Amino acid sequence: MLLKSYLSLAALASLGLADKSPGCGGHIPSKFPERGTSKNLTLPGLDREYRLYIPSGYDSNTPAPLYFSFHGASRDMKQQEELSQFSNPKFNKKGIAVYPNSKNGYWLSNPGANTSRPNDLDFTDALLTHLEHKLCIDTKRVYSAGKSNGGGFTNVIACNSTVGGRFAAFSSVSGAYYDTDDVPGIGPCRPAKRDEGRPFLEFHGTIDTTAPIDGNTKKHPKLPVIDILQGWAARNGCPEHSNPQRNETVFTHPLVKHASWDCDGKHGIVQHYREGDNGHCWPSLKSNPDFVDNRDQCPLGKYVFNATTYIFDFFDKYKLSK
Ligand SMILES: *[C@@H]1O[C@H](CO)[C@@H](O)[C@H](O)[C@H]1NC(C)=O
Ligand SMILES: *[C@@H]1O[C@H](CO)[C@@H](O)[C@H](O)[C@H]1NC(C)=O
Ligand SMILES: *[C@@H]1O[C@H](CO)[C@@H](O)[C@H](O)[C@H]1NC(C)=O
Ligand SMILES: *[C@@H]1O[C@H](CO)[C@@H](O)[C@H](O)[C@H]1NC(C)=O
Ligand SMILES: *[C@@H]1O[C@H](CO)[C@@H](O)[C@H](O)[C@H]1NC(C)=O
Repeated sequence: MLLKSYLSLAALASLGLADKSPGCGGHIPSKFPERGTSKNLTLPGLDREYRLYIPSGYDSNTPAPLYFSFHGASRDMKQQEELSQFSNPKFNKKGIAVYPNSKNGYWLSNPGANTSRPNDLDFTDALLTHLEHKLCIDTKRVYSAGKSNGGGFTNVIACNSTVGGRFAAFSSVSGAYYDTDDVPGIGPCRPAKRDEGRPFLEFHGTIDTTAPIDGNTKKHPKLPVIDILQGWAARNGCPEHSNPQRNETVFTHPLVKHASWDCDGKHGIVQHYREGDNGHCWPSLKSNPDFVDNRDQCPLGKYVFNATTYIFDFFDKYKLSK
């Protein structure tokens, strides 16, 4: 029996079907949410909280994509679910969504974050392993997105070769980026080497006063967004400090610019939406918690697109090759 299951695993791997996670074929654990709903959970061992959404069409034999969504500073997992709408089937057609909770409101890289091990990268890695063992996940289609500090932490994940190497693409909304070279547990950006590149999509408002698009020079300076974008372009094979090949006005709104980098034959591997006259907000055509909390920076009606649509479209283009 043991030999037989070993052989069938080996056969599966050789057929290229090894993107099925170990949880395929099993039952949804009784503590997990019912299909089509979300639930707060605790990761055994690490004692860390997360919120999980299982789509109504989940089938334990069909590997589903998995989308991580990280909350902003002083926010929580439930608020991030409302903000990002990753559990809304209108946006997320068939994927599982997970909203990790930070230890104290801040993610690693923010000066307020608790850096003790197991840290947020350890947690992300362990949570992904746990979900892959409990649910049927396509291990080549795991993605990370976040807002503000959660967007900055998505960048931290992308920069870590072991954890980031398990994710196929990344997106940051109004990201807050810090110099992390000397932060314990992070260090310089050294992502996993991969043929398909490291896709990165960023959204930023030009009047963002929380995470200014051009950075700031406070005690814990935030980095200019262009440095992050050009950094990913360079890591994808473009020259250092390269300008985007396309930098065009989109929609009928003259203030929204879409910049896109083609690097090493990879079309649009780094992309950016620059939202003139908008602030520290998750772009959306419908009201969301940002429009309620921050009416000055996020006046409803000024946005001409919803970021979530673009994030899923971007993610859908990418999967890990191995
Ligand atoms: C789930 O966690 C959020 C905090 O992220 C909390 O506000 C909410 O009350 C929790 N829900 C339940 C049912 O415990
Ligand atoms: C940091 O988090 C750990 C759990 O990972 C906890 O034991 C410790 O008390 C926290 N430290 C502070 C200063 O809150
Ligand atoms: C990447 O993250 C993992 C998991 O937290 C950690 O063990 C490793 O040390 C990190 N790598 C670097 C270079 O910091
Ligand atoms: C895109 O072009 C505008 C001018 O139309 C310029 O202000 C902006 O800096 C450019 N952005 C990038 C990322 O090159
Ligand atoms: C999001 O916005 C696009 C237009 O940019 C629209 O086509 C789409 O229906 C919107 N999606 C939802 C769920 O509102």
